[in-house]
Amino acid sequence: MHERILIVDFGSQYTQLIARRVREHQVFSEVVPPHKALDASKQDGLKGIILSGGPASAYAKGAPTLPTEILNAGVPVLGICYGMQWICEALDGKVVPGESREYGFTRLVVDDHGPLFQGVAADTVVWMSHGDRVEKLPSGFKNLAHSDDCPEGAIGNDDKRIYALQFHPEVGHTQEGERMLENFLRGICQCTGDWTPRDLAEELIEKVREQVGEEGEIVLGLSGGVDSSVVGAICERAIGKRCHAIFVDNGLLRAGERELVDTAFREHFELDLTTVDAEKRFLDKLAGVTDPETKRKVIGYEFVEIFREQAKRFKNANFLGQGTLYPDVIESVAAHGGPTAVIKSHHNVGGLPDDLEMDLVEPLRLLFKDEVRELGRVLGLPEAMVARQPFPGPGLAVRCVGECTPKRIGLLREADRVVREEFEARDEHVGVWQYFAVLTGAQSVGVMGDQRTYEEACAIRAVQSNDGMTADWVYPTRECLQAISNRIINSAPGINRVVLDITSKPPGTIEWE
Ligand code: XMP
Repeated sequence: MHERILIVDFGSQYTQLIARRVREHQVFSEVVPPHKALDASKQDGLKGIILSGGPASAYAKGAPTLPTEILNAGVPVLGICYGMQWICEALDGKVVPGESREYGFTRLVVDDHGPLFQGVAADTVVWMSHGDRVEKLPSGFKNLAHSDDCPEGAIGNDDKRIYALQFHPEVGHTQEGERMLENFLRGICQCTGDWTPRDLAEELIEKVREQVGEEGEIVLGLSGGVDSSVVGAICERAIGKRCHAIFVDNGLLRAGERELVDTAFREHFELDLTTVDAEKRFLDKLAGVTDPETKRKVIGYEFVEIFREQAKRFKNANFLGQGTLYPDVIESVAAHGGPTAVIKSHHNVGGLPDDLEMDLVEPLRLLFKDEVRELGRVLGLPEAMVARQPFPGPGLAVRCVGECTPKRIGLLREADRVVREEFEARDEHVGVWQYFAVLTGAQSVGVMGDQRTYEEACAIRAVQSNDGMTADWVYPTRECLQAISNRIINSAPGINRVVLDITSKPPGTIEWE
């Protein structure tokens, strides 16, 4: 039995981020919708409750709510944003529309360095995102911190151990959010931190076992990237050879990828591995396609067709395993049918047909990349595999602006090989999230051997990121850039210009398409 924190999801974009922060403190957390919260609060091991933010107004008709009893569960409670406002309305406080919205970085002055703000600077920066504000505190509560526009930046009742924040401590922009959450979890809830990545691995393995049952078989889309490799390890532990890994050579792979995956998997895994030659099939389907979303859909469709065909080889392959991560999910689909904009259809989320007739096995769906790497290590995957830079499911196609002809993909593959080799030769890849080449679709005039050329322009893209959701561009050394530029021009005839992409995310995305 592990110590447990209950997170009640009022519909915030950041709920899974709260869960992740709690995991970072090695505490097990469970995210539940409001209607399941009271029951969940009665189960063993409960050490505290966090109420998430949400888009509604706590005083509005039909706003999400909970039985007030939950505040008497005998454990500390932390309300965040809407969670704070709900606490006020549920007790005898009052929430009203604010005169002005507070959004983004905000200066917070701490007035009470009690249990929640122990060790936090008196003057700090937090991330606010709210329109409503608390007008009257519930009885027994006091102000703990304020901002210029919000006298009730944080409130609390030490006797009842109920605390609430108008800002978001879970978001990286809140300078001391980590300290505040640590104070809540370790200090106020007295969690000792008994939940390790190994426990998480065991839990995920058990869930796959339960989902698939005694007889079920999984067809696993193995790309050779970190995510699907970790899913492979989980599924193998869960059901052994009833997991059939399918590696598709779609002609959009990096140089050396196929050989690497083949060797690595045969060395480290006992699962059943099949490599499917599908280069022609994919490139034929991509002929004439230039629109990025259409490309993604075409590729996603073809993958699924292959997995379906492969599934027919096995008696009970009713499950499709994929390495979908949480950031893929939130950028590809409007979560909970809400207003989140679709940025791009990550091929393993947005491109599945309605008539798939296979259940998805996605054990990493609520995790972030660095957590997946840690899981990979716990599961015994080699460092070379776990530390690899991410590579998108649609492969080189989303780095080849315009049509994906065999010739252009060949050029890009060569340029990408050069970029990787030069970064790695100088250890400039260390700490860099991704570094690769892009065929930009632009053509430009050049001169080579006294002849005019009119050829493709290639971009070098290197970014630093923690989770792929935001990213900063990286400035390689002049030597590295020079070596890349010379080598690409010499070894990729058809490219006569090399440029450096200096766009962060946002406003750009990491991949070009
Ligand atoms: P973007 O381009 O959206 O990429 O800023 C964020 C991260 O996701 C990777 N990416 C993908 N991964 N399937 C994947 O498995 C996809 O369709 C896909 N598209 C982008 C990208 O490489 C970056 O790390």
